Parts: sequence; structure tokens; C-alpha cells
Amino acid sequence: MTELNELYRCNICGNIVEVVGNSYGELVCCNEPMEKIESKVQEDGLFEKHLPVLIHDEDDKYLIRVGSSEHPMEEKHYIMFIEAISKDNKYLKRVFLNPGERPELYPDCKCNHLNARELCNIHGLFESELNK
Ligand SMILES: [Fe+2]
Repeated sequence: MTELNELYRCNICGNIVEVVGNSYGELVCCNEPMEKIESKVQEDGLFEKHLPVLIHDEDDKYLIRVGSSEHPMEEKHYIMFIEAISKDNKYLKRVFLNPGERPELYPDCKCNHLNARELCNIHGLFESELNK
């Protein structure tokens, strides 16, 4: 059984997929069930660099940045992507990132409440609710 927006990883080949249509079937890759990637809820010492935060930039635009203390964007340790999803699931914006880029996303929807999440290649998935 899958739910909209869930993320799954293949622990053999490393494929990562996101559900865009939920159903009762099991996701399989490399002949093995894929593992659901759960958002981190409580991990001392990791939140500061991983939880998405909402800030105003110098042009007074809303900006989602990963970590109140900026996360590293190095070859071996970086943020793979950031997503902003509205509460009603009508809006989704995702930015894929490479080492060396800033871990930021500009949400361009008018919604006042967003779920933001990011995937760190080492520490996993972190999610936060953001209110304008
Ligand atoms: Fe990390």
C-alpha cells in the first residue's frame, strides 16, 4: 500500500521513487520490496543542519533553506533535493541539487501553509511544516 508523496528507496541499486498515484500494490526494485523513507522526527544534533526553514530574502520573497545552520554541499555529503508541498497536495515544487549549490528553494505558490522536506544523501529525509 502506498500513499501520495511517499518516498521509497531500493537498498540494492539505490533507486529512489516518489508516489504520485497511491494504490494497494507493493513497490519492488531489483526483485526486492522497496523501503519507505521515513521523515526524521527526533535526532539530536542533526536538526540544526537539516530541518527546512522559511525565511525572507533581501527582496522580501519567501525562501526555504535547509538548516538554520547551513547544511554542507560537498561531493560526499549534500542535499539531494528540496520539496515544498501545499497542505491540499495541489502544489508541489522540487529542486534537485548538486554539490556546490546552495540548499534553497523559492516556493512560488500563494499558500500560507507548506510542508517542506529535504533528502540528505547521508542523514536521510527531514520535514517541517512552514507557515507564512
Ligand atoms: Fe546531512
